[in-house]
Amino acid sequence: MTSGAMNPSSSASRNTYLWLLLLSTTTSFVMSESEGRQTYIIHMDHSQKPASFPTHETWHRATVDLLSPSLSDGEDKFLYSYNHVMHGFSARLTPPELTKIEKSPAHRATIKESFGKLFTTHSSKFLGLKHSSGLWPASSYGEGVIIGILDTGIWPESASFSDKGMPPVPPRWKGECENGTAFSPFNCNRKLIGARSFSKGLAAAGLNISEKYDYDSARDYTGHGTHTSSTAAGAPVLGVSHFGYASGIARGIAPAAHIAMYKVLWESDTLESASSDVLAGMDQAIADGVDIMSLSLGILLAPYFNDAIAIASLSAIEKGIIVVCAAGNYGVHNSTNNGAPWIMTVGAGTIDRSFVATLTMGNGSTIEGTSYFPESIYIADAQVYYGKDNSDKAKCRLSALKPKEIAGKVVLCDNDNTVDPYSQVEELDDKGAYAAILLNDEFNLAPEEFSIPAVVIPTSSGAPIKDYLTRQGNATVSMRFLQTKLGTTPAPLVADFSSRGPDPINPRILKPDILAPGANILAAVAPNRPFMEVGPYDLVTNYALYSGTSMAAPHIAGVAALLKAVHKDWSPAAIKSAMMTTAYTMDNTGTTLKDQRWRHAATPLDFGAGHINPNKAMDPGLIYDLNLQDYIEFLCSLGYTKKQMSAVIRRGQWNCSRSDGDLNYPSFITVYSNKTGPTKVESFKRVVTNVGDDSSVYQAILASPKEMKVTVQPSNLTFTHKYEKQSFHLTIEVDKSAPRVTFGYLKWIDQHNHVVSSPIVAISVL
Ligand SMILES: *[C@@H]1O[C@H](CO)[C@@H](O)[C@H](O)[C@H]1NC(C)=O
Ligand SMILES: *[C@@H]1O[C@H](CO)[C@@H](O)[C@H](O)[C@H]1NC(C)=O
Ligand SMILES: *[C@@H]1O[C@H](CO)[C@@H](O)[C@H](O)[C@H]1NC(C)=O
Ligand SMILES: *[C@@H]1O[C@H](CO)[C@@H](O)[C@H](O)[C@H]1NC(C)=O
Ligand SMILES: *[C@@H]1O[C@H](CO)[C@@H](O)[C@H](O)[C@H]1NC(C)=O
Ligand SMILES: *[C@@H]1O[C@H](CO)[C@@H](O)[C@H](O)[C@H]1NC(C)=O
Ligand SMILES: *[C@@H]1O[C@H](CO)[C@@H](O)[C@H](O)[C@H]1NC(C)=O
Ligand SMILES: *[C@@H]1O[C@H](CO)[C@@H](O)[C@H](O)[C@H]1NC(C)=O
Repeated sequence: MTSGAMNPSSSASRNTYLWLLLLSTTTSFVMSESEGRQTYIIHMDHSQKPASFPTHETWHRATVDLLSPSLSDGEDKFLYSYNHVMHGFSARLTPPELTKIEKSPAHRATIKESFGKLFTTHSSKFLGLKHSSGLWPASSYGEGVIIGILDTGIWPESASFSDKGMPPVPPRWKGECENGTAFSPFNCNRKLIGARSFSKGLAAAGLNISEKYDYDSARDYTGHGTHTSSTAAGAPVLGVSHFGYASGIARGIAPAAHIAMYKVLWESDTLESASSDVLAGMDQAIADGVDIMSLSLGILLAPYFNDAIAIASLSAIEKGIIVVCAAGNYGVHNSTNNGAPWIMTVGAGTIDRSFVATLTMGNGSTIEGTSYFPESIYIADAQVYYGKDNSDKAKCRLSALKPKEIAGKVVLCDNDNTVDPYSQVEELDDKGAYAAILLNDEFNLAPEEFSIPAVVIPTSSGAPIKDYLTRQGNATVSMRFLQTKLGTTPAPLVADFSSRGPDPINPRILKPDILAPGANILAAVAPNRPFMEVGPYDLVTNYALYSGTSMAAPHIAGVAALLKAVHKDWSPAAIKSAMMTTAYTMDNTGTTLKDQRWRHAATPLDFGAGHINPNKAMDPGLIYDLNLQDYIEFLCSLGYTKKQMSAVIRRGQWNCSRSDGDLNYPSFITVYSNKTGPTKVESFKRVVTNVGDDSSVYQAILASPKEMKVTVQPSNLTFTHKYEKQSFHLTIEVDKSAPRVTFGYLKWIDQHNHVVSSPIVAISVL
């Protein structure tokens, strides 16, 4: 019964708990390390390198070696020298050693090591990508673009990484395929052009990388990195499925783009990822020449100057590299991760596909539920056991049932959302039940947890079954498994696990930025171990359904690759703006995107600018551009000390000319306290760049509820040539009696059908 535990990545909700646990337990784990050494990331002022050192690395190493030259256990205290993501190094230091370094005039800042975790095909069609027109043909499917994936490694033999028909490796590429356990340079080809692994930080924290847990190389053990890589840029592979579900072609979003894997996430019983390793991976990716970085992981939530991913991403952005990150799987208000404004922060949506089993009651009525049971079986007229009366038996709690009651029967399990459905399945499997009907609104059962034929039915649709079982002394049901249905409505929904805004670090930037498919995504996995167990059988698969914002981020990385292939000179902010201002906010029933769990209208705090619409993003009309100086001005407004500031921007000097913190962002949010005064007024300045036709006239269309008054000045923008810039002011006035979250939209519309849309949000905090 370990199939669920073996694949934590595909169980989004459970994963969240694991991650929470991890964050609270690692501190003591690291503290108790022998000899009192801990890993620190040290920022140095690179201009202070003495001329006697030929390179920064030799200087960094010497700095560490000088601290305690007598250390003779042969252990290297030095981990990495960083040159791109920051200037500095990571090393294992005692408190006195750290103090010594911090007294050096070349020291700029210290970040303590922290640990993180991953956020755990039909989707390209759902995104509207077509061979005949739009972004796919225009971008030649992302040809020439290199996507760097920071993840758990890659399974190079997967058909998704075949280089058949791929163009040659770009001459500018400086990456490598490192040799290691079960991985050699021969595993790379024109699709997978780089593969490296980074584990010194985890090793320093006491992790043993052994065959027991993982491969000491870029080879993927868990399947997560294989899944994200093939989602972003996998080759088309015919006739794949998840044990028969979702069968069809698996294809990455940018099937002609190249992939480079940087393994920074490791399978172990304690830790998965160390910030020093993530920094080293991002440093190398920049040096190697990737165009896009995709990170489906999160480290500790921290201000930007203590956030390794935020710091490294700003450096990447400065070099024109687009950084896409998963928003996290916390599923609640104020829980987005990776929310720095230079990062594309991605939430997860569902797609219009569902996996069902049908249940027919003895009296002929049929009900549909969700199932991932991996065999196409039909159960005819089976007897049903139901414990009734809200008892532990009715809820199939662990140890509540007796084999003689349920052996060989279909069992109905109630749930008041106090029982984990996985433990119900465990109980039924242990006691010999034939099949299960699980009534459940709150919890999801992950695909690999369907070890017996089970169907999950919402409590409300389950009422007739309970009624039937209660009335009928000798009730029977029939069940049919393994059916995939397309055209599910409503879709997309904001996935229940997707992290919601406001951003906990800076609520004045609307996060997440965008929504992309992240629920039940079919992509390649590592076939090195069973995906699940059914009875005595271990089931292995090459393609599987995973869910998480981890799966949403590589969709956006893939679209970014397509856009980069079309608009080679666009900045990361321009590409991000294009995706955000063309996103849609209506589902396939024509109403505002809804929340998956509660089915009420979602808000931009759930879906950001909306759901990605790749073909529209190719021709956005206007863009909200940003450069490094804009981000510096934004950081100036945060009240950071000189050291904190230089840790983020890797410079000793900078200019702050404004301090309003107003960034030229493609969305608007005002945060107010409803305790004082009758209204809150906030003004924003924006500059838009015409990337469409030479001459166009844009008109502002505003939509907002009555509690929120929005004005735009001027309300018409006239452009006479491409790349011309125009500015405008937008003012939000919100009644303090408004609901907690109020939102509307600004849409700039021109005569050529461009619609440049931005959400406008007001949120009250106490
Ligand atoms: C590659 O790594 C494997 C496993 O670590 C090792 O056995 C082999 O000798 C290495 N080959 C080279 C050329 O370094
Ligand atoms: C790592 O391996 C060494 C040697 O095999 C062992 O002494 C140590 O306890 C292991 N550490 C962990 C965290 O498993
Ligand atoms: C079967 O029984 C259920 C529960 O009593 C009832 O809701 C349903 O209408 C019945 N179906 C038929 C076809 O009689
Ligand atoms: C109950 O149903 C089963 C299966 O249809 C049948 O074999 C059995 O005779 C029935 N028992 C009673 C008491 O009706
Ligand atoms: C959001 O989360 C952060 C960090 O956990 C916390 O400091 C802040 O008070 C929270 N804000 C709200 C409005 O809940
Ligand atoms: C700051 O601005 C001044 C005047 O525009 C310029 O000369 C100087 O180079 C800037 N310094 C930095 C660090 O950008
Ligand atoms: C903006 O343009 C529209 C359509 O061309 C026009 O009707 C309107 O008068 C213009 N408004 C302003 C303020 O110029
Ligand atoms: C202010 O907002 C909070 C939460 O959004 C709400 O509970 C409270 O009733 C509001 N107070 C007033 C005076 O509107």
